Amino acid sequence: MTIRPAELIERKRNGEELPAAEISELILGYAKGEIPDYQLAAFCMAVYFRGMTAAETFALTDAMIRSGRTLDLGKALGRKVVDKHSTGGVGDKTTIAVGPIVAACGVPVGKMSGRGLGHTGGTLDKLEAIPGFVVDLSVDRFVEQVKEIGLAIVGQTADLVPADKQLYGLRDVTATVDILPLIASSIMSKKIAGGADAIVLDVKVGDGAFMKTLDDARALAETMLELGRHADREVVCLLTDMDQPLGAAVGNALEIAEARDTVRGAGPPDFTELVLDACARLLAFSDLGVDVDEGRRRAEAAVADGSALAVYERWIRAQGGDPDPDVLPRAPVVLPVSAPRTGSVTRLGAIAVGVAALHLGAGRRAKGDEIDPAVGVLCHAKRGASVAEGDVLAEVHARDEPSGKEGVAAVLAAYELGDEPPREHPILLDVVG
Ligand code: URA
Repeated sequence: MTIRPAELIERKRNGEELPAAEISELILGYAKGEIPDYQLAAFCMAVYFRGMTAAETFALTDAMIRSGRTLDLGKALGRKVVDKHSTGGVGDKTTIAVGPIVAACGVPVGKMSGRGLGHTGGTLDKLEAIPGFVVDLSVDRFVEQVKEIGLAIVGQTADLVPADKQLYGLRDVTATVDILPLIASSIMSKKIAGGADAIVLDVKVGDGAFMKTLDDARALAETMLELGRHADREVVCLLTDMDQPLGAAVGNALEIAEARDTVRGAGPPDFTELVLDACARLLAFSDLGVDVDEGRRRAEAAVADGSALAVYERWIRAQGGDPDPDVLPRAPVVLPVSAPRTGSVTRLGAIAVGVAALHLGAGRRAKGDEIDPAVGVLCHAKRGASVAEGDVLAEVHARDEPSGKEGVAAVLAAYELGDEPPREHPILLDVVG
């Protein structure tokens, strides 16, 4: 090793721009176990205060990719590969609905997803709520399934961007997750290493997201677009609302049921809109040769004619699961959250609902915690809705009465009712790229 990590940390702390070769050595040395966690933690904190230039962020992303193997899914499929990624939020089951719709339109989807930690759930945890569903497929089986069914969603293999796996775990416990260049390089390194030619990024904005303001979300989007351009990938970023949970369902089995409903055209309006928009943009990026409007028409048609639901069922079966919604685990206790007054919903805190679901057992407080797939929250009244006193705002699905009652109090506290006239809150705030 030619670098001295302590000196590198000091230079970053003092605001110096670091050369690409030194960043590369730091990341590759960390991935090999030659540089300890505490030095990378200090480095990440220095980045929090000093930021990274575009050249440093490219170097970081490039080193992350080179820490493991890469996948050429396009070559294996003989097709252009499109992928999507969300920066994460509460009730975000978008991939589970987008995958079958896009596949039903004739565009293969092979996606590697992650698990959740804290109040943001992971796609893999949600899928594992389906009895029998297996997320660990070999790369060969993964590719075969994408060829046969048009869709596979699996866990990220250990050798794809291993530096991110290590670094993300470290960032999670050292208050260094919400740092723009680290988020951008974490997401883009995985997408590029996974072989995507074109990427639709869903950048969440608001209370339940890493990016709290539209300006911060735009800056993250611009950085990821730049990283994409640098790697010769097409990228578009949707900036979408995460000031309240997405859709109604928060909790693993509840979210699967909602994703399936959306695939058959019976999903909640905000989630349906996001799913169809993401599908349209993925289809426009694909080798079908359609624009976004035609992509939208095809996505809507696949939902309306049942072909998206048919792909959903084939996909779940191919990964060992039972697609019948009646076999999803159900919580034994379901309690209503009632409106304390007549008015309109002026606020529904995403984090508060996410944390309520976490306490019910839907998420992990620490790595390795068991998840209860059945529990969670259904938010029936969303921001802008008008309600009468006593109306059911939400339902809490709990393992037992005491945790259910705590959940009801927590969800009620997430709601604010006022006298504003009822109105729609758009899910799509902006498109960058
Ligand atoms: N999602 C990721 O994959 N990485 C981050 O750093 C943040 C969100």
